[in-house]
Amino acid sequence: MYAQMVKTETNTAALTPEERAFQERIDADIKIEPKDWMPEGYRRTLIRQISQHAHSEIVGMLPEGNWLTRAPTLKRKAILLAKVQDEGGHGLYLYGAAETLGISREQMNRQLHAGKAKYSSIFNYPTLTWADVGTIGWLVDGAALMNQVPLQRCSFGPYARAMVRICKEESFHQRQGFDALIQLCSGTPEQKQMAQDALNRWWWPTLMMFGPPDGESVHSAQSMAWRIKFASNDELRQRFVDATVPQAEFLGLTIPDPDLKWNEARGHYDFGDIDWEEFHRVIKGGGPCNRERLRARIKAHEEGAWVREAALVYARKQAARAPAPKKTQTDEILG
Ligand code: 3HC
Repeated sequence: MYAQMVKTETNTAALTPEERAFQERIDADIKIEPKDWMPEGYRRTLIRQISQHAHSEIVGMLPEGNWLTRAPTLKRKAILLAKVQDEGGHGLYLYGAAETLGISREQMNRQLHAGKAKYSSIFNYPTLTWADVGTIGWLVDGAALMNQVPLQRCSFGPYARAMVRICKEESFHQRQGFDALIQLCSGTPEQKQMAQDALNRWWWPTLMMFGPPDGESVHSAQSMAWRIKFASNDELRQRFVDATVPQAEFLGLTIPDPDLKWNEARGHYDFGDIDWEEFHRVIKGGGPCNRERLRARIKAHEEGAWVREAALVYARKQAARAPAPKKTQTDEILG
């Protein structure tokens, strides 16, 4: 309904012939590829969203990485290590997808390190106990999945294709988190309390991951018309709440929201007000761990300078030695 409304607005707007042809391709569900003509706003919107997404994956390695040396068993440590490495891989595919739009990875890193680029608010909260690791998998990866499954149909080819593998891996991440919580919740009363405490701290920040309420979402309408987004922030948030409440019941945990109740007429759960002041404070840099996260990223970048330099020198040497690559059929077509 909302998507329909946005589309109508776009149709009536004064579009140039190029823009109209572009919108028709989008409406016909034809993928846009990097060498195709695109409106500057489309390119900028994608760079903004994909780079923010990539930064979220990379910064998101930090809170869980914090528990790699303290995982309770060898099996949990191996799973966590694989998950954190997956997130690094997601960041790389996404930086790669953004680079096809004409921005370099170096530029994106500079924006992040200067505090000019955003990454998901959720990664500015601390991981205080082992239960936080399970809860991040269950809630944070669960919310990311709810938001990202539709992105596999995104109109921009490289982003859509990157999302296929990312979603498969996020699904494993969500399950490993839920599995860790099943174990804690069927353990001692202290373990169950630890899980409840983690849920209490992560619930509201997870709901904020979906972005501001629809009325304040500046980019949603245009992004939906361009098929970069398929559902509004509030729609996805509602879907997440509806899917997650029965999972909490299965675990025997209580969601920390006295206003949460099933609404028979709407066919959805009603839930309490989100503290949007907290959300704005966190995305402006005032969350509990913003400074620590940026410091860690800048340090890793500086300490990795020699690795990047060595890799570049090696690549140049290899290129100088190798015979010129044969042109493929795709090269001929693309010119
Ligand atoms: N944290 C930080 N900033 C946020 C935010 C959040 N949770 N939600 C919204 N914002 C920002 C937007 O980026 C925008 O700021 P900008 O104009 O400076 O870019 C502003 O708030 C207004 O929000 P809008 O609703 O207008 O923005 P969008 O239409 O871009 O919607 C979004 C926000 C839903 C996050 C959308 O960008 C999106 O779907 N992004 C792709 C998915 C993504 O980035 N996910 C990160 C989640 S974590 C993750 O993937 C890691 C995994 O391992 C768990």
